[in-house]
Amino acid sequence: MSKQTSVVSRNYLLDAINSMSPPRASQPYSRSHPPLSIQVVVNMIRLFLILPFASLSCALPGLSWIQLSNGFMEQRIKQAFRARQGPVAIVDGLTQIPDADHPFMAPEPTDQRGPCPGLNVLANHGYLPHSGIVTQADVVSAVSEGFNMGADLSELLSVLAVAQDGDLITGKFSIGGPDSRAALLGSLQNILGVESSLYHRSNGVEADASATRDDAYSGDDHTMIPGLYAQMKSIAANYGGLYTLEAMKDVQQLRHQQSVQTNPTFHFVPITGVLVIGAKAFISEFFSNGTYGDGGVPNEESISSFFGAQLLPNGSYEFIPERFPDNWYRRGTPFGLVNAIDEILDFYLTRDIGFGANAGAVNSFVPLDLGAITNVNSLAASFRTHCRPTSRARYSSRLKSSSRSIRRWST
Ligand code: HEM
Repeated sequence: MSKQTSVVSRNYLLDAINSMSPPRASQPYSRSHPPLSIQVVVNMIRLFLILPFASLSCALPGLSWIQLSNGFMEQRIKQAFRARQGPVAIVDGLTQIPDADHPFMAPEPTDQRGPCPGLNVLANHGYLPHSGIVTQADVVSAVSEGFNMGADLSELLSVLAVAQDGDLITGKFSIGGPDSRAALLGSLQNILGVESSLYHRSNGVEADASATRDDAYSGDDHTMIPGLYAQMKSIAANYGGLYTLEAMKDVQQLRHQQSVQTNPTFHFVPITGVLVIGAKAFISEFFSNGTYGDGGVPNEESISSFFGAQLLPNGSYEFIPERFPDNWYRRGTPFGLVNAIDEILDFYLTRDIGFGANAGAVNSFVPLDLGAITNVNSLAASFRTHCRPTSRARYSSRLKSSSRSIRRWST
């Protein structure tokens, strides 16, 4: 597949995506998709809506979302400033992780674990609540203490997780599957159909083409797949067994190609696609052992422990709960938002991993026409055509199916 050499017209793109066959009903995590351009725009609008909350909560990490949205009463803001000393860990160069207060404890059946090995390992060592039901402040504090992730990056990720996959009232989300403990109304919340998990059941932050997780189309998008882990390892072998950024770029490109070839509903769009790319860079940046220098390059020993990949005598792998490797030191300098954007751009520009989607069949990848998306007139036309079915819809089966897909998406 060449890098977006033939960007198709907006109308063709919309038609192609709307004519997708619906996802397989038997798959619990599969979903229907709106037209690509509308998805991207809706994601952008969501991001703009939540960014003010992100910056506020970054400045005032002691506040929950409900407190932030409650009118910023003076008393609460003062409390938040006092609480500010608490949740964010102070980063002071190389520190051995875990410390004596955070021994490994395997998750119990009721504990939530999910698609993110970083959050899973923090919960297994008690840097995050062992239950896997977390708040934004929990996450910002834990990723800083455990991995030296910059607060700007962790705020953005956790705000996205709360906004897309969490409970806006409690500010909580489950790092695994849907869980009533994350919701204000507990199990009654299910009546409202609100999700609070990182599983790919809605338009959340989990997405296709992950390194060691399958696409949602397969039915399980969150469990480490030993075969995918072995594939990643074989790519690292081309780089001396080191999980360098170049190796991770190759992993991203291969996973993108595999999704195009095997997943008829493959979607790789901003913002979720950007996060998936970023997660590959995290493998090199955060799972390295700090004793190599300012982060160093991770090797098989640390990577296998972080991904919970246990080598069996027959050469294959099985999954065991993720844990920090022995004698491991977190990276010496924080890795923040600017670093992440820089590396994501580098991935995107140096590999064949264009945004777009399969149009309902394998190998039917339609590149996303970013020009059409940023054209205000085209956008208005898309919304008119797809969001407000006209009388023509009664006479055109194509238009009927198009508006059905919009209704499915918006319910
Ligand atoms: C700060 C809050 C964080 C949130 C909300 C978050 C969320 C997620 C989600 C939803 C995914 C699945 C993405 C996909 O579909 O590929 C993911 C993947 C991943 N995350 Fe995180 N994450 C966070 C922090 C971290 C940290 C601190 C690390 C590393 C120390 C990390 C490492 C990874 C890796 C390596 C993957 C890719 C797994 C794979 O592709 O097999 N994440 N994360």
